[in-house]
Formats: sequence, C-alpha cells, structure tokens
Amino acid sequence: MSSAALKQYLSQKREEIDWWSIITDPDFIEYPYPTLKQLQQLGPVHFDKKSGVYFILGYNEFSQVMKSPEMVRDTRYWTSGWNTPEYQKNDPVGYALFSGTQPQMINCDGADHARMRNVYTPAFRARMMSNLHEMIQEETSRLIEKLPTGKSINFISEFAAPLPLRVMCNMFDIPKSMDVEIGRWSAAIIRMADVMMTDEQKREARDSLIHFKAYLKEQILIRRKNPGDTLMDMAIRALDDGTMSEDETLINLLSMVIAGHETTVSLLSSGLYLLLKNPEEMIKLRNDRDHMKTAIEEFMRFEPGGNMILRIAKSDYEVAGTTIPAGTLVMGLIGATNRDPNKFPNPDHFDITRSPNAQLTFGGGPHVCIGASLARAETDIAFSSLLDNFPSIELAGTPEWRLDRVNARGLKNLPITLERKL
Ligand code: HEM
Repeated sequence: MSSAALKQYLSQKREEIDWWSIITDPDFIEYPYPTLKQLQQLGPVHFDKKSGVYFILGYNEFSQVMKSPEMVRDTRYWTSGWNTPEYQKNDPVGYALFSGTQPQMINCDGADHARMRNVYTPAFRARMMSNLHEMIQEETSRLIEKLPTGKSINFISEFAAPLPLRVMCNMFDIPKSMDVEIGRWSAAIIRMADVMMTDEQKREARDSLIHFKAYLKEQILIRRKNPGDTLMDMAIRALDDGTMSEDETLINLLSMVIAGHETTVSLLSSGLYLLLKNPEEMIKLRNDRDHMKTAIEEFMRFEPGGNMILRIAKSDYEVAGTTIPAGTLVMGLIGATNRDPNKFPNPDHFDITRSPNAQLTFGGGPHVCIGASLARAETDIAFSSLLDNFPSIELAGTPEWRLDRVNARGLKNLPITLERKL
C-alpha cells in the first residue's frame, strides 16, 4: 500500500481500518513490513468489523492464543465459515473442497488430533531424521551438479522448488516420474488456504484432490504387498489397525506432501535472497558454518513465508483485554509477531547470529509444525552445499514476489549467477 493510502487508513479510527483491503493490496503483499509495524503500534489485537475476524500482531498475545485448548484449528467451529448452510448453498465447490479435506490432523483438535499426529511423530524424531540426512544430501548434490554457471538462472525453478518436492516424495516412496504431476496437484491444492482463491482455482483444486487421492489409494494397494519403513508404510499400518479411516489416511498423506513442499521452497529462496541483500552476513556464514543454525532461524523470523496462522475461539476467550467471542476466526500475522519489538531487539535488523530467536514461523501449541526438523535439516544441507560448491553467488536481476496469494508470501523468481569452485 502506498504511504499516502496507509496514512489515510491509520488516521481513521482504529476500529474503522479495513483489514481485507490492506492484506489483499499488492503493495502490501510485496512488502508488508512497514505497514505491519504501523498497525502493530496501534495495538496487539485488532477486530475487522467488515469480516468479523480478529487479527493478532503481538508476539506474546499470539503465542498465548496458539497454546490455548480453547483456541482450536477445527474451522467447523467458525460460525460464519465454510460449514454453514449459506456457504454450502452459495459456494458448493468451495464447500466440497473444505468438507472433503476436513478429516486431517491440522483440522482436528484434542484426542482426534493426537490420534492422527501420533501416527507420524516417530518419523520426525532425531534418530529417524539423521537417517534422512544422507538422502537429502544426495538429492541436493544431484541438483547442485546440474546447476549451470556463468549465466543467469532462476534459483527457484532450478533448485529451491525441486529439492523439497523430491525429498517429500522420497519420504513417501513416490517415484521421480510423478514429480511434475505431484507439483501441479500440490500447487493447486495449497491455494485452499487463501482468501484470494478464484472459482476456477477452486475447481482446479477439487480436480487435483480427486487425482491425488486416487493416486495415493493405488500406491497403498501396491505398498501393502511390500511393506517398508516410509511415511506411506506408517500410514498404511495406521489404516490397517483401525487408527485412521481411509479418508483420514489419504487426506493426511496428501496434506503432508503439500505442507512440506511450498513452505520449504519459500524458506530456501527467501533465505538466499536475504543473504544476497546482506553480503556481510553471507561472508559471515561462509567463513563460519557454526552460524548455520542461528542463520536458519533468522531466515524464518525475517521472512516467515506463511503469513497467517489461524485459530477459532471455541468459547469466549480473553487476550490482551479483548474478549474474542466463541465461533470467531482469529488470524495471527506472523510477519508482525516475528518483528514484535517487545520480543526481538532491533527487529528489522537481519542478523544471522541472533540468539535467542523464538520466531513463530512453525506455529505453536499442539499443532506446531511436525516437519520443522525436516525443513531445518533440508535448509542446513542445501546452504552448506551451495556455499561449499559456489565461491560466488550473485544476484542477476530484480527478484519477483508472488502477488496472487495473501496467506503465503514467497518469491517466484530469484535470478542469480553462480561461479563453481575449481
Ligand atoms: C519452512 C517450512 C515449513 C513451514 C514454515 C511450516 C509451517 C507450518 C505451520 C505454521 C503449521 C501450523 C502450526 C499451527 O497452527 O500452530 C504447520 C503445521 C504442519 N506442518 Fe509445517 N511447515 C514447514 C515444513 C513442513 C514440512 C517439511 C512438513 C512435512 C513433513 C510439514 C508438515 C506439517 C504438518 C503435517 C502440519 C500439521 C501439524 C498438526 O496439525 O499437528 N511442514 N507447519
């Protein structure tokens, strides 16, 4: 949003701010931080009269919300959401999409959530993760070997996008021949979390869901004859012993592939862009790889990718003196919480050695990202390998941000040139 338009908004009474106009504005999507800062200065919790949604920008306030058992992820509690007769009548395709993907861990709470999450938790424990490092390194090296040098390339299409997709697919034993199709289905379905979704995109998501589910169903039949130790096998065991229904099994499987893909693409590409924009930090990391762990946390704090994390108030809930009525949708704006000056000193300063750095990019409470250790490991291996192989990585043009998504900020083009180590 232009500074004149922003000034106009903020000069209105706080209660009159039109939040949806702000968050769908292309200028805001391209660079939301100055606007978020000004809105945060007006208070940590805001109510948007037009949509009936609460927005939370304060770190402590949203941390409290995410951990509360009264603030749930099951959107059927949202009294003006997709699960109402009016919505079903006005938007049957949207309704079919949301109701069809309801039975999965991210949409359930309490015992149902734990039942599904526990099926997968063992795969992300430290011991299992260390077994995955070799596979991630192999995929990374394969891509790095093929990266052209001495000419401009798009880092995203050449590296940041294919790596997480292949890693996820390997974890599910999905062959490489399926990469293009899975990538397409995944890109169509992930839009479901976005308020800017068009009718055509809803139809595409619906069709992709049908194809993806059918593919996974077929894979389950094949894998059952030859059981192993992949995420797919864990899911099959849970299906066969009655822990999960067939629908829960399929929806959780496809959601995990999708959840682990685009988010990591954004982390890899934003991370590299941040280093290119801050060459002194790039040098610091090149010279001392002990900074890698804190650097990854700072990439995530500075550019969280996922801008919004939702919760629904199951009963009236008080936060920072505001009572959120039962049945209301609450959106945590992570671009703001991660730069809250009450939590992070000098929050607009990018510092790869920042510690502590309890950024909220992976969410919190019972739904905290199950794949966080995997995303961190992939980023660590990817950046270590890039720095080892390429003594020079330069920006080769102006990067472009995606402007058609509200909930997920990410680059679509990051032009770079590389020089390979002799
Ligand atoms: C940089 C990469 C990633 C980011 C930023 C990210 C972010 C998130 C966020 C914000 C949540 C919701 C947390 C909440 O509501 O409190 C979440 C949940 C989830 N993520 Fe990730 N994620 C990433 C990578 C992954 C990967 C690699 C996987 C794959 C295994 C994955 C699988 C999931 C699943 C299954 C959930 C649902 C957990 C639950 O409801 O209990 N994510 N993630």
